[in-house]
Amino acid sequence: MIDLFRPVTRACDLTIDPGLHRGIGVVGAGAITTVAHLPAYRAAGLPVLGITDLDADRAERARAEFGLPRSYTLEEMLADKAIEIVDVAVFPEAQPDIVRAALAAGKHVLAQKPLATSSTVGRELVTLAKNLGRSLVVNQQMRYGEGMAAARAMVELGWIGEVTHMTIDTDIITDWSAWSWIVNSPRLDLMYHSIHYFDSVRAVLGDPQQVTCVAGRRPGQLAVGETRTLTTLTFPGARSALVKVNHENHTGDQHATFRIDGSDGAIRGTIGLLYDYPHGRPDTVELNSAVLPTDGWVPYPVTSRWIPDAFAGPMRALLGEIAGLAPAPTTAADALRTLQLVECGYASIASGATVSFPPD
Ligand SMILES: NC(=O)c1ccc[n+]([C@@H]2O[C@H](COP(=O)([O-])OP(=O)(O)OC[C@H]3O[C@@H](n4cnc5c(N)ncnc54)[C@H](O)[C@@H]3O)[C@@H](O)[C@H]2O)c1
Repeated sequence: MIDLFRPVTRACDLTIDPGLHRGIGVVGAGAITTVAHLPAYRAAGLPVLGITDLDADRAERARAEFGLPRSYTLEEMLADKAIEIVDVAVFPEAQPDIVRAALAAGKHVLAQKPLATSSTVGRELVTLAKNLGRSLVVNQQMRYGEGMAAARAMVELGWIGEVTHMTIDTDIITDWSAWSWIVNSPRLDLMYHSIHYFDSVRAVLGDPQQVTCVAGRRPGQLAVGETRTLTTLTFPGARSALVKVNHENHTGDQHATFRIDGSDGAIRGTIGLLYDYPHGRPDTVELNSAVLPTDGWVPYPVTSRWIPDAFAGPMRALLGEIAGLAPAPTTAADALRTLQLVECGYASIASGATVSFPPD
């Protein structure tokens, strides 16, 4: 059996060929840059040439911690010809202007999720990148996390037959207090968290036809926006998905699971990151297949984590796209669909009705 897992292990491999390397400049030295982007790029041996942040002290601290050659102002970074890729991780509202400026300066861009907080702006960025002939990819990295990547590979290998349903089910406690921009955002879970699940579901099932979503809050919670969401998605062929999220589980029994059912088996697992964010633990993945010589649930040996390891995935894909190897799966045009799905979720919450996807 362990030999059968070889194609899955290969599909999860995120090593980056040094021949693909290009100079990277990082914009934003906040939490996700220091716990995920820079550790992943260091492990992958990528040439990060420098960093900038509105808070110059913060940029300098990150520069020193990761031994980067220099810190910049944004203007200096965009003028540096050695930097071919700008990797953006700032407050979501600040991202579009930086993306526009970087593309106009001739850089390829890896943007954080969400690409923008409205699909109108997201579409404009997609068009701009296309017109300028630059790559714009979005850091939707959950699909590259080893648990989800292994599950996707098993699906693509046909090990559970035709996919019929996918569930993501999390009951966790999330401390938003370090991010005042999230605490005060009227839109929270779908825009900043479930967007990862929507991307992973789309990576397995494609685009849905209909979206139904309800949302709630815990009385007395810190965050302004929704911290509980329940989204059902329906797909052609009577296939479906359920994304169920609660960030306000104060009873100590955290869980974060996923399951993909098919005509000839199922895959189930846990999302390790969410048991102790941002350190987490490795995901688990188990397979039950009627088309392989398995006897019950067989564990797949996961050896890496969503944070930081999966963050090599979107950068690897961007480098491959720039080199002409293959389009990046989370290119901005694809991420725009995920953002539209988020917006359909909010439209369903507001109207209490099922919403068609894609929107008109
Ligand atoms: N798994 C993930 O993909 C993941 C996880 C967490 C956050 N994020 C995303 O990453 C982005 C940043 O999140 P974070 O947790 O690092 O936030 P943060 O608040 O910790 O840091 C944001 C940083 O951006 C800097 N900044 C803001 N505007 C800027 C500008 N115009 N130019 C330069 N720097 C600027 C701030 O000074 C701050 O240091 C957000 O879009 C968030 O949604 C993604």
